[in-house]
Amino acid sequence: MGTRVWAPGRVNLIGDHTDYTGGLALPMAIGRGVELTGDPGGSWIMIGSEQMDGMCELPLGIEDPSSVQPPWARYVAGVVAELPARDGFLGTVSSTLPIGRGLASSAALEVAAAVALGGDLADPLALAQACQRAEHRAVGVPCGIMDQLTIVAAMDQAVLRLDCQELSFEPIVLPEDVEVVVIDSGQQRHLAATPYAARRAESARAEALVGPLREATPQEAETIEDPVLRRRARHVVTENQRVDALVTAFKDNDLRQAGELMVASHASLRDDYDVSTPQLDDLVQNLRGTAGVYGARLTGAGFGGCVVALCHPYAVFDLPVVWRGRPASGVTREEI
Ligand code: GLA
Repeated sequence: MGTRVWAPGRVNLIGDHTDYTGGLALPMAIGRGVELTGDPGGSWIMIGSEQMDGMCELPLGIEDPSSVQPPWARYVAGVVAELPARDGFLGTVSSTLPIGRGLASSAALEVAAAVALGGDLADPLALAQACQRAEHRAVGVPCGIMDQLTIVAAMDQAVLRLDCQELSFEPIVLPEDVEVVVIDSGQQRHLAATPYAARRAESARAEALVGPLREATPQEAETIEDPVLRRRARHVVTENQRVDALVTAFKDNDLRQAGELMVASHASLRDDYDVSTPQLDDLVQNLRGTAGVYGARLTGAGFGGCVVALCHPYAVFDLPVVWRGRPASGVTREEI
């Protein structure tokens, strides 16, 4: 008997660079992802990839995931070490997600591997946390919980309001007659080679001055003397507010307001958090002038990757669309 696991990628509608200070985010799964198929058993993990070079070959007792070759196998190695996996696996991985484009391709691989290796889907938070630790350990990126938790907890037709302090998630139904579109800037990046860790450290320094950013008011953020830390704190505090404002806009079916909030979020990520690029800014500008688009912003960590827009189902794009549709369901596992 074989096993087939599907783990989707995710796109975040609003609430970026907030998860690692216990903030809010509003992500959803998309219809592209990672599929891992094979036979559990034995004491080795052997996984070939349809897109990536090299074979992932690991003993169950792996101790240092960060030195594994080829580099993509480090995500699997991190999971093997964190679960820890008790049985081996012989199989193939195949991905329809563009890599390094802000759609959580690494988290999708981690979650697929964890579920194939016996991770418990009935405890989504523990599974997501094991995968988050796997990423820290495998590639040294101090990521938050958003990507892994979204992939595990995602629900058809709903975006998730993640509260990264309580580590809880609440489904928010997307209004009818609206679609989410993901557009690729063409700028690939790997988080380990970006200032992601530096931003996280800056947020921590801001918290040392004004206390938890989740609780801070915009006025408190403005009291920070250091201009860089003040801007970082301003982004986080206002972004948390925008998440709940977008939830309200969806509940009120106010798509014009929803679009404005996304545009304001992009400006904050660009001007206060310094994670945008000229390509992402141009794409957002272009989308704002496109008929049927309510709003657009960069999505995920930034520094390149993708832009997300909220649009009318009839909107037409002359841009590299990676995916469009409504929130997809999360990870699945079946015996085949
Ligand atoms: C990456 C990380 C997430 C989150 C986003 C930015 O996707 O993996 O934890 O911090 O960046 O919102």
